[in-house]
Amino acid sequence: MNKRVAILISGGGSNMVALAETMRGDHPARPVLVLSNNPDAGGLAKARKLNIPTLAIDHKPFGKDRAGFEAALQSALATAKPDIICLAGFMRILTADFTRNWEGKMLNIHPSLLPKYKGLHTHARALEAGDAAHGCTVHEVTAELDDGPIRGQARIAVRPDDTADTLAARLLPLEHQLYPAVLRRFAQGDDTPVNLQG
Ligand code: GAR
Repeated sequence: MNKRVAILISGGGSNMVALAETMRGDHPARPVLVLSNNPDAGGLAKARKLNIPTLAIDHKPFGKDRAGFEAALQSALATAKPDIICLAGFMRILTADFTRNWEGKMLNIHPSLLPKYKGLHTHARALEAGDAAHGCTVHEVTAELDDGPIRGQARIAVRPDDTADTLAARLLPLEHQLYPAVLRRFAQGDDTPVNLQG
């Protein structure tokens, strides 16, 4: 039986496409839902093109009512019945109540070599710190932001003339290799970490 995967996005969805395009053939998982908190997310149209059911649950009408927003998410997920949730550029912080429901079943990709640079502006922060290496991480989601067991990392060398934009541009293709590689292992119950070098 293939594992059912829901992918949560907020933007362009390039990681979502990379995940969805590899869930074919002998892959142990299939995408069953692409859900966005942003009705204008470019990734929704890309998912429709890939024939994946989509749903937008706009967080804005919920204002500060995080519990209300998450109840709506939870209800959509209860219908889609995913075995695995992949956060792929999903830019809402999830509460402990939500993450607890999906602990051990939810992955996230983060554009830094965790535990370095949790949160935002990771490329600029790596440059400011004078790091020689930068990268991205796929980890299991726990209540703590950008924390949880690391399932894979991809690293690149920082060049003297790098900017936040050039780092992001060099890293994104590696994100597209790393996340599918981790998801495949995760869906098979293989917890060997994936390590890639760009
Ligand atoms: C990716 O670079 C991902 O690592 C990052 O957002 C981008 C989404 O791009 N995620 C985070 O910053 C999460 N904190 P995409 O929509 O093209 O996949």
